[in-house]
Amino acid sequence: MLITGASGMLGGTLVKYFSSDYEVYATSGQPDLPYATKHLQFDLKTDNYAPLIDWSQPDVIIHSAALTNGNQCDQNPELALQTNALSLHKMGLSVDSKTRILYISTDAVFPGDSHKSREQDYTSSESVYGKSKELGEFFLALRSQNFTIIRTTIVGVNQLNGRQGFAEWIVNSVKNGERIGLFEDVLFTPISCTSLAKSVSTILDENLFVNEKIHVGASEVYSKYDFGIALLEELGISTENVDRGKISSFADRAKRAKDQSLDSSYFEEITDIKLPGLKETVKQLKKDFNE
Ligand SMILES: NC(=O)c1ccc[n+]([C@@H]2O[C@H](COP(=O)([O-])OP(=O)(O)OC[C@H]3O[C@@H](n4cnc5c(N)ncnc54)[C@H](OP(=O)(O)O)[C@@H]3O)[C@@H](O)[C@H]2O)c1
Repeated sequence: MLITGASGMLGGTLVKYFSSDYEVYATSGQPDLPYATKHLQFDLKTDNYAPLIDWSQPDVIIHSAALTNGNQCDQNPELALQTNALSLHKMGLSVDSKTRILYISTDAVFPGDSHKSREQDYTSSESVYGKSKELGEFFLALRSQNFTIIRTTIVGVNQLNGRQGFAEWIVNSVKNGERIGLFEDVLFTPISCTSLAKSVSTILDENLFVNEKIHVGASEVYSKYDFGIALLEELGISTENVDRGKISSFADRAKRAKDQSLDSSYFEEITDIKLPGLKETVKQLKKDFNE
């Protein structure tokens, strides 16, 4: 199994999760990773993917790498397209037709006011990041005959020191005595990286959703404010420094998504797995923070 983006929040969790059952080959932009025994530094903007594929000989690729910083994507659309879209074109052409490619995509492929988007809903991203990921989906479906597009929203804990996702930012800021605002008018359906890894495992074990798109997120919709409060309470950290914020009061954020929620009921129906809600997700994050 080849995992791209192995230095990232999700990629790191996937490497740890799958290393007990698979021979995991990990790749990222780093020279090495403390938690990956087989690791190759490889820039996905490179034209020739043969060195990566020859080295890892994958039967399965989980493509988690992406340029995820929305501002960086806005400022450098070419870089976003190279990393998030053309990597799928090159990867698809570099492997044989049997190689299974699971592509981690995003809620950001939908417009920012689309409540509980379903797999078949019309994608029309309003950001360079979202559009580049949407194009990644397009290239994968064009170039691969054995793929699954997994659209998700994730929260988690980085394996690599010094990196910080949304949940870590909330916890670290509050622990450092800073006052933070969390949007109560932004809705999402995040799943913990660990729970997503379990879902990916089910998809692989049961060979599900071949050449399909699938949504894997929380089973309920909640606000970023509700998430932050529930997380801090679960971790036993005071919430008195957390303010209710509104994205609608930020003029320059008018284009940012207010409703990023995904409907993951198709995944639940086919797998017979109930996806986690807010309570289960913050419990899982507590475990992940303490590992
Ligand atoms: N985080 C979210 O809220 C969220 C929501 C929905 C979907 N997703 C999707 O989930 C996936 C994982 O997200 P994440 O938050 O774990 O990402 P992340 O922490 O930002 O990590 C991104 C990874 O991509 C690698 N990468 C970026 N550019 C690269 C390049 N040119 N060549 C090689 N590797 C490159 C990075 O490597 P280096 O840093 O070592 O260079 C890093 O390992 C992404 O596909 C993202 O689109 C994320």
